[in-house]
Amino acid sequence: MNKNLRKVIIAGNWKMNNTINATTSTLEEMKSTLDNFSDVTVIISVPSINIPLATSITKDSFINISAQNVHFENQGAFTGEISPLMLNDYGVKYSILGHSERRSYYGETDESVNKRVIGALNNGICPIFCVGEVLEERENGTTNEVVKSQVVKGLLNVSKEDVLNVVIAYEPVWAIGTGKTATAEQAEETCGYIRSVLAEMYDETTANAISILYGGSMNAKNAKELLDMENIDGGLIGGASLKTDDFAQIIKATR
Ligand code: PGA
Repeated sequence: MNKNLRKVIIAGNWKMNNTINATTSTLEEMKSTLDNFSDVTVIISVPSINIPLATSITKDSFINISAQNVHFENQGAFTGEISPLMLNDYGVKYSILGHSERRSYYGETDESVNKRVIGALNNGICPIFCVGEVLEERENGTTNEVVKSQVVKGLLNVSKEDVLNVVIAYEPVWAIGTGKTATAEQAEETCGYIRSVLAEMYDETTANAISILYGGSMNAKNAKELLDMENIDGGLIGGASLKTDDFAQIIKATR
């Protein structure tokens, strides 16, 4: 099946960076300088407090704003969380879910990520669902086992119809923010494996329609090699998405 049938997505993850001034200037700069390739979906994921600002700046532009997490309930006693309805209020169509920083620092589990995935889908929000192994797992040869378990548990009870609205981000934890990228072959191998797991869970056609992104120290220099791979349909980019020039180079590398 042809890679061209899948959506190409370049998503920046700003994490806990950029105050009002930096959010405004960076998004204004991106709006006016980034290439608007009609076949590439460009997403910037901002801290929730900056969603109103970011969506107002990017309104009527090709930049889509994403949340970095979203709760599974629509409302209630969940201090510190934001609900899918609140994202709907601002027209936010994406949320990162299950990022390894949420899993390792804030106790997010496969089960809680699964609930969030379902809550998002039920409210028209497309999950950018993150999976990935830690260094020890890569070294002891259990990468496939680990990512399979994360994919199966994270997508539990997600129908074939709904899974077409999920984007998967394969992010080896040892490559995140470390400057140590997976080689294109390592990334391709695991993204291809994830696609085979999706084919087992759903079917080939469905698996071939789901975009799988690579994340972990993707930058202007290494993006092309990674993005040229058959099973890598885009990137989830942390550090390099904070600088317009670097992010622009990564978008160009989809050509
Ligand atoms: P990085 O972050 O590009 O800075 O490694 C990627 C991510 O955490 O999504």
